[in-house]
Amino acid sequence: MKHTSRPNSPGRRPEKPALEVQTTTLWDYPSQHYGEEMQGDKEYVGATPSYVIWNLLQRYTNSGDTVVDPMCGSGTTLDVCRDTGRVGRGFDLAPTRPDIERADARHIPLKSSSVDFVFVDPPYSTHVRYSGDDRCIGELDAAEPGYYESLDKVFGEMARILKPGGHAAVYVSDSWRKGKPFCAIGFELFMRMRSRLESVDIVCVTRHNRKLKRGNWHRAAVDGNFFLRGFNYLMIFRKPAAANPERKGSAPPASGKSGTQRRRR
Ligand SMILES: C[S@@+](CC[C@H](N)C(=O)[O-])C[C@H]1O[C@@H](n2cnc3c(N)ncnc32)[C@H](O)[C@@H]1O
Repeated sequence: MKHTSRPNSPGRRPEKPALEVQTTTLWDYPSQHYGEEMQGDKEYVGATPSYVIWNLLQRYTNSGDTVVDPMCGSGTTLDVCRDTGRVGRGFDLAPTRPDIERADARHIPLKSSSVDFVFVDPPYSTHVRYSGDDRCIGELDAAEPGYYESLDKVFGEMARILKPGGHAAVYVSDSWRKGKPFCAIGFELFMRMRSRLESVDIVCVTRHNRKLKRGNWHRAAVDGNFFLRGFNYLMIFRKPAAANPERKGSAPPASGKSGTQRRRR
């Protein structure tokens, strides 16, 4: 499926490129949304760029598959599922629209081994205030163990609900704030996911947020000798086809690809 925009004309915004399946481990697309419409909500702080989810679904799911997002925010995953003929189920502590169900991602109300794909874009430490609910993982500082322990429970649920052979993806950024320790959230979360599921790959997704367009932030980064977050990790995993109860905490295979990156369509 290709989404193309109409040709440029005076007064129109520059044309968005057609959606393509990304082929390297460096992903980039100049817009938060593809096509003429919006997926999720552009006003929602922390929404996932929809082409990221679209690409994952192209590679790891088939039409009619069930896709779950346990921290669904503005519903980007559900909109991409609708566009691509997948069955989306979205949960959040603070649903922003009627098709998102209320649930704590540490207790996903779905049967074990029942879904084909799980996508999650969790809070990255306390950078964004979401609902303010004290169960919100965005209330937990990534400099403290509680943040990782809570997300580990979410990962346990993701692994539980996945069918054997199904895939999961985690989209996340590291955290740096002035006067605080640097938090390598991506590395920490990768290790936790890998103790539950097979690792498939890690993709670096170019960030295009508003701060990165402002000159004063770039000057501050030079003057203060820090870096602006230029990328997000997209970490992709697979539940082994034959579930191995010994796997949790076991060492990864020494080398080689698992052969799971073929397109399933
Ligand atoms: C980065 S946002 C997700 C953005 C979403 N992918 C989108 O495109 O709009 C993280 C979400 O996690 C939710 N959240 C935080 N803690 C949660 C929990 N314990 N259970 C379920 N959702 C939670 C927040 O309410 C917020 O909507």
